Amino acid sequence: MKHTKEVIRYFIVVCAFFTLFMEAALAQGTTESLVLPDLKEYRIERTISEEAQKCIDCHSKLEPGIVADWSDSRHAHANITCLDCHGAGAADADVSVKHLELTKTRISAIVSPKDCSRCHPQEAAQYSKSKHANTLEIIWKIDPWMREGMNNAIERRIGCYHCHGSVVNVIDGGLDAGTWPNVGVGRINPDGSRGSCSSCHTRHKFSLSEARKPEACGQCHLGPDHPQVEIFDESKHGAIYHAEGKSWNWDAAPGTWTPGIDYRTPTCSVCHMSRVQDVPATHDVTERLAWETQAPLSVRPNQFKPMPAKTDWKIEREKMKKICMACHSSGWTDGHFDNLDAVVMNYNEVYYTPMKKLIDQLYEQKLLSKEKPLDEQLEIDFYELWHHEGRRARFGAAMMAPDYAWWHGFYELKKRCMTIEEQAEHLLQSKKAAKIFDVKGASGDTTQPDFDR
Ligand code: HEC
Ligand code: HEC
Ligand code: HEC
Ligand code: HEC
Ligand code: HEC
Ligand code: HEC
Ligand code: HEC
Ligand code: HEC
Repeated sequence: MKHTKEVIRYFIVVCAFFTLFMEAALAQGTTESLVLPDLKEYRIERTISEEAQKCIDCHSKLEPGIVADWSDSRHAHANITCLDCHGAGAADADVSVKHLELTKTRISAIVSPKDCSRCHPQEAAQYSKSKHANTLEIIWKIDPWMREGMNNAIERRIGCYHCHGSVVNVIDGGLDAGTWPNVGVGRINPDGSRGSCSSCHTRHKFSLSEARKPEACGQCHLGPDHPQVEIFDESKHGAIYHAEGKSWNWDAAPGTWTPGIDYRTPTCSVCHMSRVQDVPATHDVTERLAWETQAPLSVRPNQFKPMPAKTDWKIEREKMKKICMACHSSGWTDGHFDNLDAVVMNYNEVYYTPMKKLIDQLYEQKLLSKEKPLDEQLEIDFYELWHHEGRRARFGAAMMAPDYAWWHGFYELKKRCMTIEEQAEHLLQSKKAAKIFDVKGASGDTTQPDFDR
């Protein structure tokens, strides 16, 4: 350790001499003999402003982890400093008052998509259109847990909002601990922008290679109702990724990451976001989709009422197919999508529609109560039919996971239909309304937040 320090000190001294020498050399106009890498080092030293250097000096003592991650990042190499991202104006809602008193500089802990958009306008514009950025508004429109107050504040805070995002509030010049920290995809920021870029690009590395790996998505896309990462792990693509992904080239510059050369099988990012051949990269994950397979009844993305996509599913399907055809023939690709479409129709027609009809009949005859959703066993069964196994069957087929398509999907759907029909028959025969379960204390606020603050 001591030795390392000495080497660094020696290096600094050498650099100082070198700097003097260079200044002299530049003044005399004799630059031919200079070596390029050293010249670059010299330029970086000079372009970090004094104010920005102060942040680094003080915070490298407070949180060496943050400063080390930043130093490792492309941002540091391009001289993008703490101040470039955290600097705030006098009129900004989220200025930290404590920090201003302490250091006389205006900073904000939040670096919102609007802040990143100063330098990355395209990514921010695409992201703002996506269901990711708008998810809080979507779930408040359709979700029974939220709309009907079926769960309480702490349940939402540690569950829903971690993935979907919180509405971050400022109290007394600091961020409200009830809404912060949070990096959910649809976070609503004090500056009015929606989303959080660090959902996938964790600070302070903001690494491309991290976002390109399935683990970046799998922190949210997992579990009984949207097991995309488990599905990926089970697919041949995932198996090959786990077997040899370590040796692939994850750092290729954006736009140059090439199937067959940099990687052998696709990750989530390849199929849903990255540029592949002439399909352009996108930060809008709704692109490339031809179905809304998470909805109770599968519909086309432009027919999804809470947030109709502005896409044409036929064009998006062609884009997705082009990606496959970087590695597969058209016959293999068409065959896959024919199967997917047949699975979607099979789910819609054989399972969802008849069960929906049956449940509606029970509501009509007042054997089930419309008062609160999800407080009767049959309502839970019907919910899990589309929300759990119905999704798994469709997702499993879309992303090549036969175990999810059948054992966790259609097989479970059959079982669920049996229990629904058995209970329905019992209610219809006995003409007695279903038992209502009420968990005391587990209800929450139903006031919708202000999405356009
Ligand atoms: C003299 C030391 C010092 C300097 C200089 C300084 N900070 Fe801080 N900063 C602190 C302390 C102390 C805290 C609060 C405690 C902590 O981080 O653990 C803090 C907190 C922060 C936070 C988190 C705020 C929050 O609400 O969680 C950010 C972001 C931040 N500083 C950025 C900066 C930036 C950008 C600069 C340069 C313009 C800077 N700091 C300069 C000492 C400093
Ligand atoms: C490219 C933009 C960017 C740069 C450069 C940057 N940050 Fe951050 N920083 C963020 C983001 C994003 C977050 C997470 C907050 C959020 O999601 O809005 C964050 C969070 C923080 C936090 C609070 C998080 C925690 O774990 O306590 C501190 C403190 C902080 N940064 C300090 C720094 C310091 C010091 C530097 C310079 C060495 C720096 N940041 C450089 C974008 C940046
Ligand atoms: C002041 C300008 C600036 C701001 C603000 C900024 N960036 Fe960057 N960012 C850059 C530059 C310049 C590069 C390219 C660096 C390079 O290629 O060497 C870059 C590169 C990146 C990369 C690619 C990294 C890689 O491994 O190639 C990501 C991801 C990224 N930024 C995300 C963000 C996010 C997220 C934010 C906001 C939290 C942000 N940036 C804020 C200027 C900025
Ligand atoms: C582990 C992360 C996570 C948690 C926790 C979580 N969700 Fe989600 N949610 C997701 C993901 C990922 C999707 C996308 C599903 C898909 O498209 O396959 C989603 C989808 C949804 C949808 C469907 C949106 C649409 O466009 O149809 C609703 C509604 C929803 N979630 C509400 C909630 C509520 C309410 C909670 C808490 C009670 C919650 N979620 C908890 C990750 C999560
Ligand atoms: C859902 C995850 C996700 C979120 C959220 C996300 N990104 Fe990305 N981002 C990615 C992936 C994956 C890539 C790599 C794409 C590729 O392979 O070209 C990427 C690449 C980038 C790049 C490099 C692209 C280039 O052409 O230079 C930048 C810059 C970037 N993101 C900025 C942002 C900003 C700014 C935000 C917030 C507005 C954001 N990202 C939010 C996943 C995400
Ligand atoms: C922090 C949590 C989180 C992360 C990380 C995340 N997502 Fe999502 N994703 C969600 C949520 C929540 C939704 C549901 C949005 C809605 O419909 O309301 C969603 C929806 C989607 C959708 C469906 C969009 C649509 O129009 O139906 C796709 C595709 C998707 N994500 C892909 C990805 C990919 C690829 C990554 C990684 C590069 C990723 N996500 C990372 C939370 C996340
Ligand atoms: C081989 C390409 C491929 C890979 C890898 C892949 N997906 Fe998909 N994904 C698809 C296809 C194809 C669909 C169905 C598209 C359609 O609507 O026709 C889909 C559908 C989805 C959906 C459902 C969207 C909706 O609203 O119906 C989500 C969410 C999703 N993928 C997320 C992910 C995540 C997260 C990963 C990684 C863990 C991943 N995908 C890996 C190709 C892929
Ligand atoms: C980067 C190249 C690449 C891309 C892009 C790609 N695949 Fe693959 N895929 C492979 C490789 C390699 C295999 C393994 C082939 C084998 O089994 O020998 C494979 C296997 C498969 C399998 C066989 C699964 C099984 O269990 O037998 C299917 C189906 C498949 N891919 C469909 C698709 C579809 C659909 C897309 C586009 C949405 C796609 N692939 C995109 C490389 C790719």
